[in-house]
Amino acid sequence: MQINPAHIIARKRDGFVLEPDEIAAFINGYVDGRIPDYQMSAMSMAIYFRGMTPLETASLTQAMLASGSRLTWPRGLPKVDKHSTGGVGDKVSLILAPLLACCGVQVPMISGRGLGATGGTLDKLESIPGFRTDLTETEIAHVLNTVGCVITGQTANLVPADKWLYALRDVTATVASIPLITASIMSKKLAEGLDALVLDVKFGSGAFMKTEAQARELAQSLAAVGTQSGLRTVALLTDMNQPLGRMCGNAVEVDETVQALQGKGPSDLMELTLALGAELLVMTHAASNTLEATQQLQRCIDNGAGYEKFAEMVRVQVGDLDAPRPVASATDVVAQTAGYITRMDCEALGQAIVIMGGGRWQVTDRVDFSVGLEMLVRIGDAVTAGQPLVRVFANPSQLDRVQSTLRDAIVIGPEPAPPQRLIVERIAP
Ligand code: URA
Repeated sequence: MQINPAHIIARKRDGFVLEPDEIAAFINGYVDGRIPDYQMSAMSMAIYFRGMTPLETASLTQAMLASGSRLTWPRGLPKVDKHSTGGVGDKVSLILAPLLACCGVQVPMISGRGLGATGGTLDKLESIPGFRTDLTETEIAHVLNTVGCVITGQTANLVPADKWLYALRDVTATVASIPLITASIMSKKLAEGLDALVLDVKFGSGAFMKTEAQARELAQSLAAVGTQSGLRTVALLTDMNQPLGRMCGNAVEVDETVQALQGKGPSDLMELTLALGAELLVMTHAASNTLEATQQLQRCIDNGAGYEKFAEMVRVQVGDLDAPRPVASATDVVAQTAGYITRMDCEALGQAIVIMGGGRWQVTDRVDFSVGLEMLVRIGDAVTAGQPLVRVFANPSQLDRVQSTLRDAIVIGPEPAPPQRLIVERIAP
């Protein structure tokens, strides 16, 4: 289709609804170089301000999906994945992928790196010496067939439109747009050739979406596009006003993963992991209901199969789980006053990890896997003056730069905070 990009941008800017073939032609033009970055930037900004109808969002997703190859699988066990919109201490993927692989489904998980306050699954896994996250499509298929689960980075051929568009959005302040986020996430998930997808859409101080209402809107948009594209999709709306589990960082989160798979995981982390996994087992009929699915997953923890599967995945992806994963020396940050933990600035906790070198502000930054935090309190806990609130794994010079940030991020008040539910809503179109 011959198009005039400026005309399409103007139509979006003026609030008209774009036709699916206009959207497809625009994305094709961008991918093959006929539409330059400045016109794609203008289009992103128009979408950012005008939004998109569900049909436009679905068309954008399909156009981006069509920009690259799709993983295809021979008939066999159902293929499933979980996607989180990102948070602090979120190591659910590391625990869930091997558990699911023990329960009659396969998990071709394409994950991302941390950027800003939220951690990234690939960085966590790379704290395991030798672990490869740059598998080719042939290698992904090999690991999946051998182990039943694989966690790796996006390949060059999967959704190239997203790779370029995301980088452009990052520098043009157009990331926080629900249709653009939806198309970005769902095009990548649809490219995995899945039978079912569960989305963990987080809200709160440590999440991309700060309010529950914004997260609900995103969850509905993601689930609608998945379902319209023929992918069984369920989203859980979950609270990210405090870190998930105790550990936040890279090597320390792998340590907590190992503990969780050995039956010693903290209750919030396990509740969410099992809930997300149960959705996938029910959607693919690997279990007939949520209770049965949860029991199935729990059994794989109790009998050690989940841990064995994780160790196998690490081995096949060339990692050495027995090699030391250095953790920096520990110092506790203590409460200045007595009271109750009323609130946490979870984003500031995540940013403290980045400042210590455990994350990145820019995609090219190197990550220090040894730094991190261990949360010693949760919202609602009573504390006394001098009680340790958070254990910081850092070298002394890094510690000085974050100590006051950490102290301020954990707010102590005179009254107990009302209890918060971790899983707030289930969204299934
Ligand atoms: N994660 C993605 O993959 N894409 C977005 O646009 C935002 C978060």
